[in-house]
Amino acid sequence: MNNFINNCLQKFKEKKIPNPELDIRLLLSFASKKRKNIFLNNLDINDIDLEFFNSLILKRLADQPVSKITNKKSFWKSEFFVNFDVMDPRPETELIIEEVLNIYENKNKKFKILDIGTGSGCISISLAKEFPNSNITAIDISKKALQVANKNIVLNNVSTQVKTKLGSLDDINDYYDVIVTNPPYLSEYEYNKVQPEIKKYEPKIALIANDNGYSFYKSFSKKIENIMKKNSYFIFEIGNNQLDECIKIFNNTNLKLKKISKDIQKIDRTLTFVKI
Ligand SMILES: C[S@@+](CC[C@H](N)C(=O)[O-])C[C@H]1O[C@@H](n2cnc3c(N)ncnc32)[C@H](O)[C@@H]1O
Repeated sequence: MNNFINNCLQKFKEKKIPNPELDIRLLLSFASKKRKNIFLNNLDINDIDLEFFNSLILKRLADQPVSKITNKKSFWKSEFFVNFDVMDPRPETELIIEEVLNIYENKNKKFKILDIGTGSGCISISLAKEFPNSNITAIDISKKALQVANKNIVLNNVSTQVKTKLGSLDDINDYYDVIVTNPPYLSEYEYNKVQPEIKKYEPKIALIANDNGYSFYKSFSKKIENIMKKNSYFIFEIGNNQLDECIKIFNNTNLKLKKISKDIQKIDRTLTFVKI
C-alpha cells in the first residue's frame, strides 16, 4: 500500500476509529478522480486527488463521520443525502419498514401514513417505494431537516406520494392508517455520554427529549389516538431500556400492544400498537 495511505490508516487506528480500513476506502473512493469504488489492494494512487483526500482525512480525524463528509448514507434499499441538519438514518430504524411490510402484505394497498420527525425522510421515502399507492405526510419541527427531506424526496422520485409539513403532532388534523415515528429519546444524561461523532455533527433536537427521554412517548399517549381510526397502527422506535416505561405510558389508552421487535443486537427497539 502507498506510504501516505498507510500513514493515514495508522492515524485512524491511533485515534481508535472503529472501522479504519473501511473509512479509508470510502474516503479514497470519494476522492477518486474517476469516482469509482476503491479497494485498498489494487489502489492506483494516480486516480486519487490527494489534496482533496487529505482534507477528508483531517475531517475524519476531527470525529466527522464518513456519511457527513460524503453527504451519503444508505438506509433500507436506498441512498440518502445527509448533512449536519439531520440525524443519519440508523440500521435499527429499518425495523419500522419491516413492521409495516408485515402488516400490509399487499404492496398495492392504498393507505395513509404519517411520519413524525421525518429528518432525512428515510422512513417516509422507503415506505413510499415499498407501497407505491400509499400517501405519506412527513412532518418535522426543523425547517432545515425538511429541506434535506425534500431533496431526498426528489432524488428518490417520490414527490407525488410524500408531502412534507413543518410542525409537530399538534399541527395534524387528519386520520391515518399507519403512524410511524423515530422520535428523539435520549435523556440529557445519556446525551452527555454519546460519542463525539454524534454530539458534534448531529442536531441535538433530533436526539434529546425532556422527561428523562420520555416526553415524546408521553405526548403521543395523550394525543395520537385522536388521529387514528379503529384498527390503525402506531409503530415507533424506543431507546435502550425504555421498553417497560413505554408500555406503562400507553397503559391507559385505547391502543393495544401488538408486537415488540428487537434489533440485531437483541435490544427491544420497536413497538407496534393498534387502536381498538
Ligand atoms: C431521531 S430523529 C429521526 C429522524 C428520521 N426519522 C430517522 O429515523 O432517521 C428525530 C426527528 O424529530 C424531529 N423533531 C424533534 N422534535 C420534534 C417535534 N416536536 N415535532 C416534530 N418533529 C420533531 C427532529 O428534528 C428530528 O428530525
